[in-house]
Amino acid sequence: MRTLLVTGGAGFIGSNFVHHVVEHTDDTVVVLDKLTYAGNRASLAGLSGDRVRLVVGDIADAAVVDPLVADADAVVHYAAESHNDNSLHDPRPFLDTNIIGTYTLLEAARKYGTRFHHISTDEVYGDLELDDPERFTEHTPYNPSSPYSSTKAGSDLLVRAWVRSFGVQATISNCSNNYGPYQHVEKFIPRQITNVIRGIRPKLYGAGENVRDWIHADDHSSAVLTILDKGEIGQTYLIGADGERTNKAVVELILTLMGQPQDAYDHVTDRAGHDLRYAIDSTKLRTELGWTPRFQDFEAGLAATIDWYRENEAWWAASKDGVEAFYATKGQ
Ligand code: NAD
Ligand code: DAU
Repeated sequence: MRTLLVTGGAGFIGSNFVHHVVEHTDDTVVVLDKLTYAGNRASLAGLSGDRVRLVVGDIADAAVVDPLVADADAVVHYAAESHNDNSLHDPRPFLDTNIIGTYTLLEAARKYGTRFHHISTDEVYGDLELDDPERFTEHTPYNPSSPYSSTKAGSDLLVRAWVRSFGVQATISNCSNNYGPYQHVEKFIPRQITNVIRGIRPKLYGAGENVRDWIHADDHSSAVLTILDKGEIGQTYLIGADGERTNKAVVELILTLMGQPQDAYDHVTDRAGHDLRYAIDSTKLRTELGWTPRFQDFEAGLAATIDWYRENEAWWAASKDGVEAFYATKGQ
């Protein structure tokens, strides 16, 4: 039985991880979360106070971070500014949280000898051509495109340096696009589901030919627990579930599953510098650590996610109008 310090545990993937830990282990969890616009206490509702405690604070604040890292058996670091579109509008918070915040946590892990797992993204590798037979592996060179992905790449490199220079006991994982419950309505899949619920037409950037490699957030959680338990210190593991789909195909599936004509969407202004395709080869994680994803059926996982947004309007309603007003200013 361990105490895990989960940064960003009130966000989308972090809260899915906390639910997963409570369900599948005896560990207790301390969540450190600043509760930015992306964090939501309600994502942790229903979890026993004996197992999960929320500390509201900034990962870039050493006075908050130090005692929590000192008391933890391991840190699982999810906290980040996570949305590419926001990073194009105002990059500064991405530097503060993703770079300085990660640095602050690493210094504490160094001081107290605490095991550290860093959550990162496939976007650090840049993008692939649609017809490229290769997928990203742990050996793909870093080539990030956006302010968001460049700060995530920078944070990965900090972790590697702190392992090599200071002997910090860290691992890194880079995962593909997650879907599932508790995802903010600014993101692609929840935005389109909640648009349809509200009677707004889904919005596809550009031609919609961009490809993302979808994985259910619960599979991301099981992969992270596997790495925490069995991963080799200093190693990077790519997490993916062979879920490549064009954005157009995803919008059409959402519309079909929600009983709408599959062409009832609008093409809107494309994202600046929009990465074309991500695709993960997760052979290392599967063969060396024995992980396999549980949610192999994307259509079933998406249908369950649609049900979740239909049944939990109170969770997302307060954010919806502001998000749509922001996108409208950019013609999106
Ligand atoms: P999210 O935006 O939903 O959640 C981020 C959480 O971090 C929020 O609860 C927010 O309040 C908190 N936070 C932000 N700044 C903070 C700070 N300075 N101090 C403390 N807490 C702070 O993000 P997400 O989609 O759940 O992503 C979580 C992690 O997973 C990120 O590191 C992201 O790069 C990575 N990731 C995301 C995806 C994806 O598809 N969403 C895929 C791969 C990797
Ligand atoms: O690949 C992992 C990354 O996935 C994570 O590191 C990021 O934190 C996470 O936000 C996600 O990044 P993307 O930019 O791929 O996700 P987003 O949900 O913003 O967009 C997915 C795709 O859908 C992308 O090609 C842009 C497009 N899109 C997005 C929105 C919001 C649309 O076509 N319409 C939209 O309204």
